[in-house]
Amino acid sequence: MAQGGYGTTARLFHWITFLLVLGMVPAGWVMTQEGLDRALQDQLFIFHKNFGVIVLVLVLLRLAWRAIVPPPPLPAGIPDWQRQMSLWVHRLLYAMLIFMAVTGYLRVTLGGFPVEMLDALGVPRPPRNDGMAALAQRAHFLGKFLLIGLVLVHVVAAVGHAIVKRDGVFSRMWPPIRRSG
Ligand code: HEM
Repeated sequence: MAQGGYGTTARLFHWITFLLVLGMVPAGWVMTQEGLDRALQDQLFIFHKNFGVIVLVLVLLRLAWRAIVPPPPLPAGIPDWQRQMSLWVHRLLYAMLIFMAVTGYLRVTLGGFPVEMLDALGVPRPPRNDGMAALAQRAHFLGKFLLIGLVLVHVVAAVGHAIVKRDGVFSRMWPPIRRSG
């Protein structure tokens, strides 16, 4: 199985998304702290908002790619409960990434704030609505707990397969560029 696994396109989608989310979550946390230097806060907000939109685009492209090139089958011998769990954790990860990006976008635009990249592209913003912006803010705040929980389960499972079980599951997605052969 070491030679098989996902193709290079799917691997790049995976690892780029992983790195972006690894940056987005701490940036989101730091930028909302009281007493932060204003210039740093502005930079973090700009990074977080714009890369958040890029994460959304990547996730949607990735799902489209996945529909065209279905994932390779798991190695034989993986128990059924693990197959089911992997299926649901992956589904929820996709759903939560979309949820976080959409609620972040709504919190900002309905609150009357810019998303610089989309504004530069001329994408129209919805009209200001403070009540809905507050709701989106709450959803974004709470959603992060589920997303972080899912990422932890996903990482623990991946590391377990790589180090403990060594059953070829980790090498389906690692390295980011598939070795030929
Ligand atoms: C997958 C994408 C995203 C992830 C994982 C993410 C994650 C987070 C996290 C962890 C926080 C800190 C919440 C807290 O502790 O208060 C946060 C805050 C925030 N995010 Fe995101 N975010 C994403 C996308 C976006 C997008 C696309 C935007 C806007 C275009 C955005 C705008 C914001 C804003 C404005 C805050 C501060 C919330 C507040 O007003 O308190 N986020 N985000």
